[in-house]
Amino acid sequence: MSVQLRNFTTLNAQQKAMILEWRNHPSVRANMYNTDTISQEEHLAFIDSLVKREDKRYFLVQEGKEDIGVIDFNAISTISTKLGIYANPFLAKKGMGTLLMKTLIAYAFDVLKTPTLEAEVFAHNERAIHLYEKFGFQEKFRRFINEKEIICMELDNENR
Ligand SMILES: CC(C)(COP(=O)(O)OP(=O)(O)OC[C@H]1O[C@@H](n2cnc3c(N)ncnc32)[C@H](O)[C@@H]1OP(=O)(O)O)[C@@H](O)C(=O)NCCC(=O)NCCS
Repeated sequence: MSVQLRNFTTLNAQQKAMILEWRNHPSVRANMYNTDTISQEEHLAFIDSLVKREDKRYFLVQEGKEDIGVIDFNAISTISTKLGIYANPFLAKKGMGTLLMKTLIAYAFDVLKTPTLEAEVFAHNERAIHLYEKFGFQEKFRRFINEKEIICMELDNENR
C-alpha cells in the first residue's frame, strides 16, 4: 500500500486535532523533551509558524487511508538534520515504527539530501533505541538534560 506524507501546514482542522491528541497521549509525551500537555492554541500556533521555517518540516504519515504517525525534521542544514518520530498511539498494529522510519530515512537522504541524520533518545526508551539500531544508527555520545540521560545517535547517508 502506498505511503503518503502530509505536511502539517496542509492539514485540515480534524487532522490537526487528531495529531494534538497523539502528541498529548502519555506514551508519546513521556518520550519528548517537552512533556507538558500542549494546548490547542499552542498546537495551532506551532503549525502556523512552520510555514515560514526553512529549518523544520513536520509530516503526518498515512498508509492508504490509515493515519500511522508523525515524522519530523529539525535543524535542517547541509551538514545534518535532527529527526522526530511517533506512531499513532491508538493504532494497535505492529511494525508502524519500522514503516515510519523507512519513510523518514528516504525523505531525509533523497529529498532533503542531508548527509547525516541525528536522533536524540532518552536512555530508558528501549523501543525507540531498538528501532534506531535496527536501521543502523550508532551511538555517538550521551548527555543529561534535567537529570535525564539522553543518547545521541547518528546515521550517515553512506551507511543507510
Ligand atoms: C518509537 C516508536 C515510533 C516505535 O514504534 P513501534 O511501533 O514500536 O515500532 P515497531 O512495531 O516497528 O517495532 C520496533 C521494534 O521494537 C521492538 N520492541 C517493542 N517493544 C520493545 C521494548 N520494550 N524494548 C525493545 N524493543 C522493543 C519490536 O519488537 C520491534 O522489533 P523488530 O522490528 O526487531 O521486530 C513508537 O514506540 C512510539 O511512537 N513511541 C512513542 C514516541 C517515541 O518514543 N518517539 C521516539 C522519541 S526519541
